[in-house]
Amino acid sequence: MLTDEALAQLVGETRVHRRVYNDPDIFDLEMARIWGTAWIFVGHDSMVPGPGDFITTTIGKQPVIMVRDTASGEVHVLANRCGHRGVKLAQRSHGTTRGFRCPYHGWSYRTNGALAGVPHPKGYDSPNAMRAEPCYQIKQIPRVDSYRGFYFASLAEDGPPLEAFLGDTKATIDNLTDRSPEGRIEVVGKVSNRFVQPSNWKNFVENLVDAMHPMVAHGATGKATAAYVDTLGEDASKPPEAEVIHPFGGSYDFFDTMGQTALPLGHNYMGGEKSIFSHYGLPDDYVDAMREAYGEERMHDILSFNRHNTTVYPSLAVRDGVQSIRVVRPVAVDETIIETWVFRLVGAPKALLDRTLLYSRLINAPGSMVGPDDLDCYYRMQRGLMSDLNDWVDFSRFAHDDQDAGHKKTGVGTSDLVFRNQYQAWLGYMTENANP
Ligand code: FES
Repeated sequence: MLTDEALAQLVGETRVHRRVYNDPDIFDLEMARIWGTAWIFVGHDSMVPGPGDFITTTIGKQPVIMVRDTASGEVHVLANRCGHRGVKLAQRSHGTTRGFRCPYHGWSYRTNGALAGVPHPKGYDSPNAMRAEPCYQIKQIPRVDSYRGFYFASLAEDGPPLEAFLGDTKATIDNLTDRSPEGRIEVVGKVSNRFVQPSNWKNFVENLVDAMHPMVAHGATGKATAAYVDTLGEDASKPPEAEVIHPFGGSYDFFDTMGQTALPLGHNYMGGEKSIFSHYGLPDDYVDAMREAYGEERMHDILSFNRHNTTVYPSLAVRDGVQSIRVVRPVAVDETIIETWVFRLVGAPKALLDRTLLYSRLINAPGSMVGPDDLDCYYRMQRGLMSDLNDWVDFSRFAHDDQDAGHKKTGVGTSDLVFRNQYQAWLGYMTENANP
């Protein structure tokens, strides 16, 4: 029985019980209490640019459609479920439509979810009245809101407004968007890569800000790249591939000085003044365009903002320095879909987009030089945690060195501070009377 007391036993100050990763009942409760109440990232405005454009995704276990209304241009998030007998309406990951028609009995719907037509309606008491009955419409997700084009939805009728939920992570979304000289970003193509991770969703959310693993898990790639860069000489410019991969061969000191910041509600980020992307070169014509758009001081502020992997807990990670996002979609207690989407900075030279695409291919893709290392570790961790010979997962590194800084806490880059913060938020969501 998963009482609040039983759940509290699973989260210590510096450790969590293995059940949080492998108990299907806990997974179901997470889908209701975390993914069923928090603001979950659904998609970016530019993923549905025109009337009738849609993408399909999930909020926890609920299949949903994000669609731009053909009449009003508004973005809706709808349950992907027919109002008649529940058939999933949109099968494809994306498309453009004038409405949704169910393949089973042919009920049709407008892009705002309203019932448009029922074939051969004879036998219903009042086919016209059906159009006003909520149970026959495609259900709209209770709360949908956006911040600078990033759409989030919540399955809960009530809760904090989106901007209060996002808190300081808004600054990362601002920075990603402001890196465009026009203050606009657009998704490039469709999803850049999507893969199934054979492990719990929290493995990925932790890995995003785990600064202790690159030197080991990615050590071979990092060391080989560093050895190659050494042959170039100090003043030589690096080939783009080496520039992208080289920081993954950084030292523990390098990652420590990057720093960690833990925010309310389980959000967090690495870096700030320094990140993996700090030393990436910027084309002169881009700097010129940014200076012209924002002026010298503001341009400097935007380009020196160096957060690495801001996590908007639990569903989104933003890498403003390489204009990409990663999206978390839990499927089962030991199965998670991870998506990477990359953005074009509108008004910026193509060289920046080329580097972003290169980064996605070299670092994030399932066939890349870095991502498979992590996948292997997630897989092994999920299997290792099936053992009941040791019930605990440790997060005690730098446990006594957290620095309070107002609404946030900070620590060195290799601190476990952010994991402790994630699990306090987890416990807050999971126990009914707690405030995450
Ligand atoms: Fe959709 Fe019958 S289940 S029309």
